[in-house]
Amino acid sequence: MKLPNRKIKEINNIAVIGAGLMGHGIAQEFACAGYCVQLNDISDERLNNARLQISKNLTLLAENGIIEQTSIPDTLQRIQATTELAKAVESADFVVEAVTENLPLKQQIFENLDNLCQPHTILASNTTALMPSQIGIKTHRGDKILNTHYFNPPYLIPLVELIRSPRTSDETVSVTFDLLSSIGKTPAIIEKEALGFVGPRLQAALIREAFAIVEQGIASAETVDLVVRNSFGRRLSVAGPFEVFELAGWDLVLAAFEELYKDLNNSPNINPLLREMVDSGKLGVKSGEGFYQWTDERQQILRDRMSQALIHALRHNV
Ligand SMILES: NC(=O)c1ccc[n+]([C@@H]2O[C@H](COP(=O)([O-])OP(=O)(O)OC[C@H]3O[C@@H](n4cnc5c(N)ncnc54)[C@H](O)[C@@H]3O)[C@@H](O)[C@H]2O)c1
Repeated sequence: MKLPNRKIKEINNIAVIGAGLMGHGIAQEFACAGYCVQLNDISDERLNNARLQISKNLTLLAENGIIEQTSIPDTLQRIQATTELAKAVESADFVVEAVTENLPLKQQIFENLDNLCQPHTILASNTTALMPSQIGIKTHRGDKILNTHYFNPPYLIPLVELIRSPRTSDETVSVTFDLLSSIGKTPAIIEKEALGFVGPRLQAALIREAFAIVEQGIASAETVDLVVRNSFGRRLSVAGPFEVFELAGWDLVLAAFEELYKDLNNSPNINPLLREMVDSGKLGVKSGEGFYQWTDERQQILRDRMSQALIHALRHNV
């Protein structure tokens, strides 16, 4: 399977601001499809790490027949890295911002981008939850601002949520939709902006209930993971929740949920167990401990399991 290589005529140059976990993979996706990409971050060290990671990702894709091994040097050549924002965006037609999730920081970057970019340039944020109208509030180009929300890892997960604000123009939505399609992504247009759009909202609801289950002693975190992975998690990768429940019938769903809903967690507050974990430094992989103990080996096993399954899904178009 080869990625599409069809550039759209309005867009030649891409800039990606923030070269972390998401930014490097987003830059890689555009470069793979033939676009010239400027990658920007605050230090050369972060940019060098991003380059290294992109190289590893491309090798993995080539080993699994997703791209040609011989295409890797050209793809890498199409990505230029710089710590100077002005240089990164001066000739950009489309900019994706993927810096740390912090509203004032993103607002400042968008204000700078508004001043530095050409008038026609579209500005997109990869924020997980914030709304494009909030992020672009200090700019004079609300019609050219929207969110393109990728899922991690962006080079293995096809869907990108495309969130418009009330000010985003139809043309901006249409050019962005075509651009994402041209690089082989599956864009989903979210018509009305809301915190967390669709994907993060649904995931937040799931993890809120998962924390409640553990906190109330109903089941351990390991059991929650076991249940999800081996039951409805399997179904969800091939059929959406509405499809799944339409197979069952809404009458059955109504009967089952009438009692259950009264018992589900619907607190607007963060679960105390989540706060406790963060306060005691149990952050998960990054601190070596969360619900699980994360040795290097255990991390690698999980990462390999996830990437192999996602590559399989990509190859077979699941
Ligand atoms: N991690 C995920 O699973 C995920 C998924 C979807 C969306 N997102 C969103 O993507 C964005 C980036 O997340 P991430 O996980 O890649 O974070 P990250 O911490 O891995 O990367 C953020 C990068 O932004 C850089 N940065 C910070 N300030 C900057 C500035 N002023 N100019 C240029 N670069 C700057 C940092 O140096 C860092 O390299 C966030 O908005 C996040 O909510 C994350």
